[in-house]
Amino acid sequence: MQPLTSVKVADPNVAMLQTGIIASQATMSEYVRQLGGTIITSVEEPVDYRLSGIGIRHKSTGLIDDLLKKVPDVPSLPEASLSTLSSSELDELEGSLDNGNSWMLAYRARDRGHGKYLLETSDQLAKIVHLGRVYTEKTGKRLYDNFMVRPYVKTPSNYFTSYRVLVNSAGYIQGAGLLYSGHAKNSDRKIVHACKDFGDSRLAFMVRRFEDPESPYFLDARDVRSNILCGGSMIALMGENRQPLRDGEAAILEAHNIDPSRTQIPRDIAQIASSIGRLIGPELDLVLGLDFIQNTQDERSLLEVNCGPTAAAYNVCHLAGMATMSNAMAASQWAAINHLEACYRGRSYDMDCDTILV
Ligand SMILES: Nc1ncnc2c1ncn2[C@@H]1O[C@H](COP(=O)(O)OP(=O)(O)O)[C@@H](O)[C@H]1O
Ligand SMILES: [Mg+2]
Repeated sequence: MQPLTSVKVADPNVAMLQTGIIASQATMSEYVRQLGGTIITSVEEPVDYRLSGIGIRHKSTGLIDDLLKKVPDVPSLPEASLSTLSSSELDELEGSLDNGNSWMLAYRARDRGHGKYLLETSDQLAKIVHLGRVYTEKTGKRLYDNFMVRPYVKTPSNYFTSYRVLVNSAGYIQGAGLLYSGHAKNSDRKIVHACKDFGDSRLAFMVRRFEDPESPYFLDARDVRSNILCGGSMIALMGENRQPLRDGEAAILEAHNIDPSRTQIPRDIAQIASSIGRLIGPELDLVLGLDFIQNTQDERSLLEVNCGPTAAAYNVCHLAGMATMSNAMAASQWAAINHLEACYRGRSYDMDCDTILV
């Protein structure tokens, strides 16, 4: 563990403004100073520990992908950028769709479920490819940079699910939850005018077509997103003050081979999340939000790494799911700072819960 004097925290304003905890900014900065931390204002500056909240940029630059190469044995899905697929690879993808396989098209420069489409037919792929050509003819630019194609994973239960793990930059797991979609699989919900474009011209160009039933490029894509912002809910997988199970949640856990009476985070996820936090967290953020997905063969893969994650998992694990998101966010970041401090001072760290240090 680094001596505490080398713990630097990038300008908390960035994260605080993002999460709306403006009132606690001054207190947070002061606390970091008392701990011997340094407030830095540039996100470019090399640091030992970072509080950045600039995850979106990291995702689009591919920095996270590069950093992940440092972590051994990450179970991940094969993924390729749509814009780099050769015509024979596109033909292969088309053949795979015609053979009944499904793929996920994921715009990775945006999170919270924006720009994530399930592809089930070669007709959908043809629309996507055609729109890409139209865009390039019009603008001279490529439409699909940052659009990833990955195999679609069928999840257990009658809901679309994924895991969210909050891990700090010392590898300490602060919260973990199983997300499940607000709609059941058999409800056949489609992505119609669902995603925002955030003033991103490429995304706007696509969203207006892919999600508009009036457009010839309408994808009619099934909504398979489990994100909370898309209507999903989270089941706590750890914590003494966790949110109690609600109707139907025990069955979802059982389908994932998790015993609802002794709910816990799958061991393989805990281990890999801890390694990721320890090995790349310090270069990214105090707390990372890792998404994993489980298939029907009980295998789990990493979907993505998020900087500046929401504290929904912290809330359901430690605050009974009752805190406002900004309070949960503040609590989660303070817990991360306190834990780093405890590591430095060699004292045990009691977060009043069964937080895991793998
Ligand atoms: N390959 C996939 N197979 C099945 N579901 C997926 C796949 N990729 C994404 N999803 C679903 O979509 C959600 C959002 O995808 P994700 O890659 O985490 O992007 P975001 O940054 O928008 O959260 C996931 O939580 C999961 O429910
Ligand atoms: Mg996600």
